[in-house]
Amino acid sequence: MSPETAHVRVSHVTKRFGGVTAVDDVSFEVPKGSFATLLGPSGCGKTTTLRMIAGFYDPDLGDIEIGGRRVNNLPVHRRGTAMVFQDYALFPHMTVRDNVAYGLKVARVSGADRARRVDETLAFVGLKGLGDRWPNQLSGGQQQRVAVARALVIEPQVLLLDEPLSNLDAKLREQLRVEMRILQRRLGMTFVYVTHDQEEALSLSDWIAVMNAGKVEQAGAPWEIYYHPKTAFLADFVGAVNLVPAQVTDLGHSARDRMCGSACGRRASRSRRRAPSQPASPSRERSRVAHSSVTRCATG
Ligand SMILES: Nc1ncnc2c1ncn2[C@@H]1O[C@H](COP(=O)(O)OP(=O)(O)O)[C@@H](O)[C@H]1O
Ligand SMILES: [Mg+2]
Repeated sequence: MSPETAHVRVSHVTKRFGGVTAVDDVSFEVPKGSFATLLGPSGCGKTTTLRMIAGFYDPDLGDIEIGGRRVNNLPVHRRGTAMVFQDYALFPHMTVRDNVAYGLKVARVSGADRARRVDETLAFVGLKGLGDRWPNQLSGGQQQRVAVARALVIEPQVLLLDEPLSNLDAKLREQLRVEMRILQRRLGMTFVYVTHDQEEALSLSDWIAVMNAGKVEQAGAPWEIYYHPKTAFLADFVGAVNLVPAQVTDLGHSARDRMCGSACGRRASRSRRRAPSQPASPSRERSRVAHSSVTRCATG
């Protein structure tokens, strides 16, 4: 990927906390203007990776580039990034308006300009009229929007979101998931989104990196990861599968059909006919796969 298309580049990054290697020689490139997701089980290193991109942690090894510029030695506020934290981290002693204005105040944006930008951003995230409330007077969904507004108001190049929906109930999570996607499309901004929820990742993302035990197991388009998982871990983690131990004796088509069963062969040829440039939504496809009781095949 060229510097114009790779907005965030993480190259051979390692981070250790004492004896724990949280992130282990991780490399990936996030396409510019994409909704990119780091997906993986709890403890696999997603937050640590995001915090290194933001500048809250320094990598022990490796490089991080944003927009073609190495940022390892740049402080948080000079990276062109903003972060939405998992617990929102709103300032409880400040009103909604002051929470959102905080970054502009630190950047010494003048009073009138600051007020205008705060009002515009509150309206943009659907919080018009709530500027004078305190965080404890808001619902979980509204607090989440304040956290997003506080990040967006400083007009970052890259928005980093750490499991921003995980504290919400299932229904609200689904609603805000759609809003997140619409927001990203409207802004055309690069989002790097962290989640442990496969369905959330598949339904939101243009690009996914699946992490496991501090490493990236596979990165690419959601349909690629869903239909062509490179490892057994991926096949199991990204969807509902039956894993059958088998020994490969021949790589011809007939052997592949024997390994997966005839239904899998039919499924594979049908998905090949679908143009990869216009893949169907993985979540829609998944329900069809479930209806026809067909399993996918890990290629690794
Ligand atoms: N500040 C820290 N000090 C010590 N260990 C940490 C720290 N942050 C994360 N870890 C450890 O690093 C590993 C990865 O953590 P984290 O990046 O938070 O995972 P995830 O976000 O995928 O759940 C875990 O084993 C965690 O306990
Ligand atoms: Mg985390």
